[in-house]
Amino acid sequence: MTTASPRRRASVSDVARHAQVSVGTVSNVLNRPDRVSDATRERVLAAIAELSFVPSGPARQLRAGTITTVGAVVLDIANPFFTDVARGIEDRLARDDYTLMVASSEEDPGREARYLRLFEEHGVQGVMVVPATDDVDHLLALRARGVGVVLLDRPSPTPELASVAVDDVRGGELAARHLVEQGRTRIAFLNGPHAIRQCADRLRGVVRALDDAGLDPAEHLVEVTLGSLNADGGEVATRALLARDDRPTALFCVNDLVALGALRTLRREGVDVPGDVAVVGYDDVVFAGELATPLTSVRQPTHRLGERAADLLLAGTAAPAEHVVFQPELVVRASSTGG
Ligand code: RIB
Repeated sequence: MTTASPRRRASVSDVARHAQVSVGTVSNVLNRPDRVSDATRERVLAAIAELSFVPSGPARQLRAGTITTVGAVVLDIANPFFTDVARGIEDRLARDDYTLMVASSEEDPGREARYLRLFEEHGVQGVMVVPATDDVDHLLALRARGVGVVLLDRPSPTPELASVAVDDVRGGELAARHLVEQGRTRIAFLNGPHAIRQCADRLRGVVRALDDAGLDPAEHLVEVTLGSLNADGGEVATRALLARDDRPTALFCVNDLVALGALRTLRREGVDVPGDVAVVGYDDVVFAGELATPLTSVRQPTHRLGERAADLLLAGTAAPAEHVVFQPELVVRASSTGG
């Protein structure tokens, strides 16, 4: 199977050669048409149309010193949480005529680095990153090269990098305390890798809640590290948990997509929710309350998170780095109460 070679875009030089004028004349037609005679302008515009030439936005912005594009690297844009955060960023940027480019790292540091390099080559004003690892040296280096950096959805490990996060330790604590209050003392936490700060912090919160309730996490908690932080990952993990002799009486899921997969497996296996197993998700995305068994979830202020991150980025690298932390809220629904 042949893969399409990247289309070569016509350049300013191609247009100049085609219209038999200088590159400077083409630039004048594009940026200062009043300096060009009508006949020459018509000839250049005809060449632009024949070659399907599209002026390079970044190059023009670079020349004018008015970069108006921002890049964002999130973990997974298919997760409605990140889509909502991106919408918050976009709405804030649009107020200052900036545009947003979004990419998914899929929790892969190499993929994150490739997108950051692409954004830097594209000449973006700055980047917002949900880091795939705890190491932020590459982001400090990017900032040192003059690219604005804001950590998204996690607190900053260093004063130099601005950040906007939600208190995920508190979020994990709210979820686990709620389950303990429902009498669920065999809790499974379907979590992501601890290299992702949100996942590590949520576990800290779960352990704090169990400690406060006098329950030894070694006896009352099993943590499952998911292969993927989505519904498929939730299904696979839940099937494995149902096969255990010490079947859990509650599933706390690192996000609502994982919880969706868990609910799908529980229903398929005839397990009653919440009677046999209570389920709690995280993010409170748009579908959480609409499920056949409405999902209890830890709500994050997603749109506000994105707006605030864009605020910090537009403040520029000269401004002192701010560290914003929002508080989560537990939204209790049928998937964890009663039964
Ligand atoms: O997927 C990882 C999770 O971290 C997201 O669902 C959201 O909760 C983010 O904080």
